[in-house]
Amino acid sequence: MFMHMTFSVAIAGASGYAGGEMLRVLLAHPEASIGALTAHSNAGTPLGAHQPHLRSLAGRVLAATSTENLAGHDVVVLALPHGASGAIAAELASRGDDAIVVDLGADHRLVDPAAWEQFYGSEHAGTWPYGLPELLHPGERTAAAQRAALADTRRIAVPGCNVTAVTLGLQPGVAAGLIEPQDLVAVLANGYSGAGRSLKTHLLASEALGSVQPYAVGGTHRHIPEIAQNLRSAGADAVSISFTPTLVPMARGILATATARLVPGTDPASVRAAWEQTYADEPFVHLLPEGQWPTTASTLGANTALVQVAVDEAAGRVVTVTAIDNLVKGTAGGALQSLNLALGLPETLGLPLDGVAP
Ligand SMILES: NC(=O)c1ccc[n+]([C@@H]2O[C@H](COP(=O)([O-])OP(=O)(O)OC[C@H]3O[C@@H](n4cnc5c(N)ncnc54)[C@H](OP(=O)(O)O)[C@@H]3O)[C@@H](O)[C@H]2O)c1
Repeated sequence: MFMHMTFSVAIAGASGYAGGEMLRVLLAHPEASIGALTAHSNAGTPLGAHQPHLRSLAGRVLAATSTENLAGHDVVVLALPHGASGAIAAELASRGDDAIVVDLGADHRLVDPAAWEQFYGSEHAGTWPYGLPELLHPGERTAAAQRAALADTRRIAVPGCNVTAVTLGLQPGVAAGLIEPQDLVAVLANGYSGAGRSLKTHLLASEALGSVQPYAVGGTHRHIPEIAQNLRSAGADAVSISFTPTLVPMARGILATATARLVPGTDPASVRAAWEQTYADEPFVHLLPEGQWPTTASTLGANTALVQVAVDEAAGRVVTVTAIDNLVKGTAGGALQSLNLALGLPETLGLPLDGVAP
């Protein structure tokens, strides 16, 4: 049993995909009370015009995203384009607001300011505790240290959705010293909601339906330094990863296929054992039985990551496949999982383990 602890939460960016999903998971949380909802160009319009699936809040009018409107809550969730949350978080702190701030954007994820400047081209806003409770640290096969870093924190940097998928797939092998982190290759199938709901030509149905399109090819994707940071956290000295996402015609979901060269002489049985041990007690990250493969469809709506690992002996590589719902385990569900830890609530409270199918 836990002590009841109702918390109020404001959401900046409630008209977007990430903000909408944050609201959906919070509405199912027994302790959350929904406070201010803010937007940018859509301020002044009802939430129901943008999130018609959130019937219980359809009449709520979106306020402007300002610290005046966000202040005075127990928790503030920032679901804004990257580069926008650093200033708002700093303003909230400078006016003495003591809310827990959860950033769904990228602004506070990277430790290295040079990596931020290289991939995002602006000034680094700083580094917050990283909201991936399952992240491994050197020598560990459990993520106790990461959970300890999130307990009682007032700031949470929620990971990028692709980063969560690739990190969960590869980190057991890195932590166990079974794969070579200098020769990683990841190719992902991504649903379109990962791009947000802004209007861009390549996101039109006429471009998307019946087609698969790669994007950010050739080492340019902004999630690359974050994946490298996570795998260094898991024990890699240096990381080199070729990372290629592809947009496939589905709204949600990520299927990440990530491969790595097996350390020469490694027994294939020890590979499966490493992944099994890492995720044996994880509530939301499940290694599937041998021979079963993750699908995006089986994670939709759930805060679940499904993982499989195989050894391709002829190629000398480990192949991992990870499926998540980019908006749940990849964003809002992962955020709420970390927020539960920060609030001292049970980590799994209010979070969906089961998905929606077919
Ligand atoms: N989509 C995903 O799967 C996903 C996964 C992980 C993390 N994220 C992160 O979550 C954040 C939001 O992404 P999204 O997919 O929800 O994008 P989105 O659908 O485009 O929503 C963006 C939200 O930010 C507001 N906004 C736009 N420009 C703004 C500005 N200059 N200042 C303040 N607010 C502004 C928008 O308000 P109006 O509608 O009123 O213009 C909208 O509410 C991003 O940082 C993204 O990287 C997204």
